Amino acid sequence: MTAELLDVEITSLGAQGDGVGAADGVPVFVPLTMPGDVARVALKDKRRNSIYTDLVEIVSASADRVDPVCVHFGACGGCQLQYMNKDTYRAWVKGRATMALNQHGFEGVPVLEPLISPPASRRRIALKAMKVAGGVVLGFNERQSHKIINANMCPVTRQELSALFDPLRSLLSATLAPKMAAGVHMTLTASGVDMMIDAPMALDLAARERLVEFANTHDIAALHWKDSGFLDPVAIRREPVMDFAGNRVPLPPAAFIQATAEGEKALVGAVFEACKGYGRVADLFSGIGTFTFPLARDHQVMAAEGAKGALDAMKVGLSVATGLSQVITRHRDLFRQPISARELEKIEVVVFDPPRAGAAAQVAEIAKSPVPRVVAVSCNPNTFSRDARTLADGGYVLESVLPVDQFLWSPHLELVGVFTKR
Ligand SMILES: C[S@@+](CC[C@H](N)C(=O)[O-])C[C@H]1O[C@@H](n2cnc3c(N)ncnc32)[C@H](O)[C@@H]1O
Repeated sequence: MTAELLDVEITSLGAQGDGVGAADGVPVFVPLTMPGDVARVALKDKRRNSIYTDLVEIVSASADRVDPVCVHFGACGGCQLQYMNKDTYRAWVKGRATMALNQHGFEGVPVLEPLISPPASRRRIALKAMKVAGGVVLGFNERQSHKIINANMCPVTRQELSALFDPLRSLLSATLAPKMAAGVHMTLTASGVDMMIDAPMALDLAARERLVEFANTHDIAALHWKDSGFLDPVAIRREPVMDFAGNRVPLPPAAFIQATAEGEKALVGAVFEACKGYGRVADLFSGIGTFTFPLARDHQVMAAEGAKGALDAMKVGLSVATGLSQVITRHRDLFRQPISARELEKIEVVVFDPPRAGAAAQVAEIAKSPVPRVVAVSCNPNTFSRDARTLADGGYVLESVLPVDQFLWSPHLELVGVFTKR
């Protein structure tokens, strides 16, 4: 059966970056389009309040369209918004933050100019690989599919990582069994590339030697092979470390870091600025200390984190750091056992940076506390707004929101909200 076709004039952008038009007063969502386009679409899913479609062709293009820089654009699941010119993209990023705030009753809160990471800045990526007849395909998933794009380039990734795509294909081609799938995680740290290959096979001697040679040839700092949950340290040539405000902190396998150095700088700058003039800080969901170390130059800090490995790494960094104020650490599951309002009595600023699910239980305690300033860092505008509502109900005023975009040309967005107790 052929799908029903429709021509739609795109007038706005939705929260996920799809173009939005209308048919008989019902919003029509069209991927890969933007305001000013007229798009021919095939109906996919018709509901009472929205119609979802596939783009068939652009009948007439917006004057704000640009040619996508990536040869894999359209097929690859990442970076779907690279056909927008810079101004349109920037306006959409800002609008996305405003939209999420408005939906939760924060109309009129100043949304600052977004800080957007440039191309070729992503320092942490996860690739998929599969052994096929004639070699290995290696890259990212296709849009809405588990198929792998065999990536020759990635315009958002740091060149030090994308330069390894081809050598990795040769390495895995010689190593994986036929039809075997693997994952490759790479992080560019201050001491070089930290790589983990995840594949369901134990290494024999020949494979192990090949991996060590690969690490030597490409100056990989650390190469782990993960087989059925077991992390095999195949070549540890240098310890992967992060540099936070001049302090070197070991990066445990799979620990969180911000996706770009530029994004980290933007977030740290905003947090640091919001803490100026205040005393003791609580850094909740601290990870290995992205905010803790820079803040500890001027403030006593209580850092709380649920991942023990991350907190242990922070402690190693603290043990050799010089010139920092006192930092105390708490290993806590902040979902089940949040830092209580009582424990926050001597704290002057709470900084919290939870995972995508937000920090409902922790925020309920902050809302009850007398803490004068709160800084919310979030990778999910919707849970950010929900948590902001709890804080507002507890007497906090949301002063401003800064959008920080570390996932260029994608709908992922980080927000920094600064609150003051009324
Ligand atoms: C978005 S990361 C932020 C880390 C750090 N602030 C940074 O910028 O590098 C969220 C952190 O929350 C931690 N986390 C996740 N669930 C948690 C929980 N239930 N309790 C405490 N920490 C948790 C993760 O281990 C991770 O380090």
